[in-house]
Amino acid sequence: MIGFIGGSGIYDSLPLEDTHEEDVTTPYGDPAAPITVGSMPDGTEVAFLPRHGRDHEYSPTSAPYRANIYALKSLGVERVLASNAVGSLREDLEPQTLVVPDQIFDRTRNRHYSFFEEGCVVHMEFAQPYCPHMKSHLAESARDASAAEVVEDGTYVCIEGPQYSTKAESEHFRASGFEIIGMTAIPEAKLAREAELCYATVAGITDYDVWKDDAEVTLEEVLDNAAANEEFIKSTIRKAVESMPEERECDCGRAVEGAVNTPTEAIDA
Ligand code: ADE
Repeated sequence: MIGFIGGSGIYDSLPLEDTHEEDVTTPYGDPAAPITVGSMPDGTEVAFLPRHGRDHEYSPTSAPYRANIYALKSLGVERVLASNAVGSLREDLEPQTLVVPDQIFDRTRNRHYSFFEEGCVVHMEFAQPYCPHMKSHLAESARDASAAEVVEDGTYVCIEGPQYSTKAESEHFRASGFEIIGMTAIPEAKLAREAELCYATVAGITDYDVWKDDAEVTLEEVLDNAAANEEFIKSTIRKAVESMPEERECDCGRAVEGAVNTPTEAIDA
């Protein structure tokens, strides 16, 4: 089964048939919403979860990231596609462009970053934060199926929020060479890797952040462009699900192997 975590602007599911809802509880509490499980027209099963809840009740800081990932995994999901609303840090990346990032720069400070916080220490490899195969597949799907401008690769700087950046911060991120800015890539990508899931995201640009001379980010602009991006993102995900290769061809399913730095006796105790 393939999972889809919808970001801001995506609160209902893809064109799924025979849907039912799964009310999953986890050791980390409830996910942001009941998970909608259904089949795409070609029969592929999809589990859909809106990251911020059905009525956008969870902020980027308070979203139950661990419960969201745990719940999808417990339903048998092995590959997760996600979407995010993001700001642009480059003139040529205009609002309503889709970016499929390959890197993340973490500027958050107030989240749970790991499933392994007590009793077991895991130092997992995370140099490539997105599954390289899913990332390419998602970018190709976006190019094939959406009418949007699509950019593959780029760095997503993830801030804590909920406030947008200051001009000094925004200029600093630009000078660092980052392409897009948002609030939800972390810890989701880290937790997906710890859960040994393949994970990639399609980010829809909603604004130019605050670095431009005349730019300010307004919620109205973000929501208008998120609404315009919604169809692009849905057709991208639909295509990506329908054309997903049968087998996983990466190492994401073995991510924790060799990364546990606690003697087995201590874990078993
Ligand atoms: N989400 C959408 N636009 C954003 C921005 N400019 N900064 C952080 N998160 C965002």
